[in-house]
Amino acid sequence: MDNPTIIPKPVKITSGEGVFNLSSHTKIEYDNYFYNEALFLEEVIPIKTGGIRNSITLKKNDLLAKEEYYLKIEKEKIILEASGSEGQMHAIQSLRQLIPTDYKNRLLNIPIKCVEIHDYPRFKWRGLLLDCCRHFIEKDFIKKYIDLLAYHKMNTLHWHLTEDQGWRIAINKYPELTNIGAWRKNKDGEIYGGFYSKEDIKEIVQYAESRNINIVPEIELPGHCVAAIASYPNLSCTGDSIDVENDWGVFKDIYCAGNDSVFAFLEDVLSEVIELFPSEYIHIGGDEAPKFRWEECNKCQARMIKENIKDEHELQSYFIKRIARFLEKKGKKIIGWDEILEGGIAPTATIQSWRGTQGAILAAKDNHNAIMSPTSHCYFDYDLNAIDLEKVYSFEPIPKELEGNEKEYIIGGECNMWTERAPQEKIDSKVFPRILAMSEVLWSTKEKNYEEFYERVQNHYPKLDEMNVAYGYEKTPIKYNVHFNKDQFNISIEKGNRNMDLFYKIDNNSWKEYSQPFSVSNSCTITTKEKNSRQKEAASKSLNINFHKGIGKKITYLTGYNENYTGSGRQTLINGISGSAENFRDGQWQGFFGEDVEVIIDLQENTTFSELTTSFFQYHLSWIILPRSIEYLISNDGNQFTTIYKKEDLASPMKEGKFKESFTYNNQHTARYIKLKAKNYGGLPKEHPAAGSKSWLFIDEFIIQ
Ligand code: ACM
Ligand code: ZN
Repeated sequence: MDNPTIIPKPVKITSGEGVFNLSSHTKIEYDNYFYNEALFLEEVIPIKTGGIRNSITLKKNDLLAKEEYYLKIEKEKIILEASGSEGQMHAIQSLRQLIPTDYKNRLLNIPIKCVEIHDYPRFKWRGLLLDCCRHFIEKDFIKKYIDLLAYHKMNTLHWHLTEDQGWRIAINKYPELTNIGAWRKNKDGEIYGGFYSKEDIKEIVQYAESRNINIVPEIELPGHCVAAIASYPNLSCTGDSIDVENDWGVFKDIYCAGNDSVFAFLEDVLSEVIELFPSEYIHIGGDEAPKFRWEECNKCQARMIKENIKDEHELQSYFIKRIARFLEKKGKKIIGWDEILEGGIAPTATIQSWRGTQGAILAAKDNHNAIMSPTSHCYFDYDLNAIDLEKVYSFEPIPKELEGNEKEYIIGGECNMWTERAPQEKIDSKVFPRILAMSEVLWSTKEKNYEEFYERVQNHYPKLDEMNVAYGYEKTPIKYNVHFNKDQFNISIEKGNRNMDLFYKIDNNSWKEYSQPFSVSNSCTITTKEKNSRQKEAASKSLNINFHKGIGKKITYLTGYNENYTGSGRQTLINGISGSAENFRDGQWQGFFGEDVEVIIDLQENTTFSELTTSFFQYHLSWIILPRSIEYLISNDGNQFTTIYKKEDLASPMKEGKFKESFTYNNQHTARYIKLKAKNYGGLPKEHPAAGSKSWLFIDEFIIQ
């Protein structure tokens, strides 16, 4: 018999003696109150019941709190007690998890170990955000997630329905929102999109209700609304025709705050939304709304004068409060991202803190509820380098800055599954297994032991297999550790999963099983792949080693890189490893925010070289721009430098996409010191969504040949 365990871990669990034999001789009994729950139980247990030999009983116990339950498994009977549907369904989910998955070999009896459980949640708000806008998510997939949330005692699905890249909810009064706004033309020419009809939404909401999952719809305003503006251009400040966005980032066209017909539109939309969703809360977004258009718009400026509003942040606050008042009149409360704190908070708003925990701290100190989703632990679109299973498990939702009853304003948390880089088929591998840790952070007691949890996660995988979850890894599956020593690179490879084996090859030589560190003494490409892990898709990863004369030499920084983008530390630029052209967070890129790059390499003796190459990253939507100019200088004493090369006008700051660009200078010189200067682009240009902000300069390597 496998070793069933429960995730999230129950508050109190006491093992008993012996087993209960679940079989066709088992009878299900219930208080009438739990008729629906009994039907659900019959649906999810792997056997058709109806006998008399032993029994499972669903009982009502009015002394228990809303989500609290008892589950007692004895040899002859199983009893589940709760005061209502929420607790009873949690009890059933725990029972389900205790049924061994190897039952298929046991046609007659499925033994379930005797145990007694008393359980209830630490936080009342336990959610997952699904972004069905950047990539469309099919109805059945949403239902699968409703089941998975319920299985792990999460209770909230935050459904992100409107975005720059797609409007996904049918609104009768404004048909172009889905005729036009639900479809974008991708860069390869493909028309991509989809939306939910009212019937689809009713079906999903009803399904969620049957599982006690509350669906909170998010209708974004005043930003992240390019798809709405593409459908109805009069909603923007300029009134210009624009396309549904086909790139990722933050965009400057937002709803005009000076135009009353914009509020009429939003009130109409929200009225139809309210009809569909029983949720007490409506999420109205509020994040990442650049104020550039408002600053230039006569209507917005006139509104500010008329309403005595001092700046555009206050204008955003006016916008949010006006919508909040409308929703309150309709009996709904609002949730907004932490930006809605800027310029004054709407009185009954709940804050979802994503830019760290500061938003939640301010909210709680101001007697507002807060939901924790800091990017540091809760962003499941981030890769495992940034947030692995252990990191999520270490998350403590209550910020230490809060004292006494301020803590009670932290009502729970959510993990966010943004889908820019995750079409539907990748979502499982991003959400699982990390959501197991999140469910435990939000449900179980504060005292935790990662090793013990890790073992339960291993036992849990067969259950996820049964539910067709294509879970990903627990941590970065393949990680290279590289050290340069004298004239060779020593390489060790760390595996992210205890059960897997690694195989590697150097250039096109044959594959070898990795068992110990090795060294290389020429430029080469190392490729590693894993075998034997449980994951559906085996990981593989390459490393490009580039031998050159700067490796291991002394580097002096005259300017500083940013603490969030340190690459692999001080030797990054001369470590022989190039950064990837796709991922500026791969540990090989250093970022300089608003600063130039100015470094001196001391080659320690006069050295002849004939080629200098530097490479930089550009992704203008993340404010990363190529340098304005680069300059190479040489010196023999480290004080007096002479320019040997200078190139200007390198940057095209609005050039789209993510790319890496290298600049090579060929000419023979001899020197001990080489200085590299790369000039930061500076303020983002007028056409940029974040016009005027500082820009990033990213560099990975300075190659001296
Ligand atoms: C967010 O990630 N912009 C809430
Ligand atoms: Zn305007």
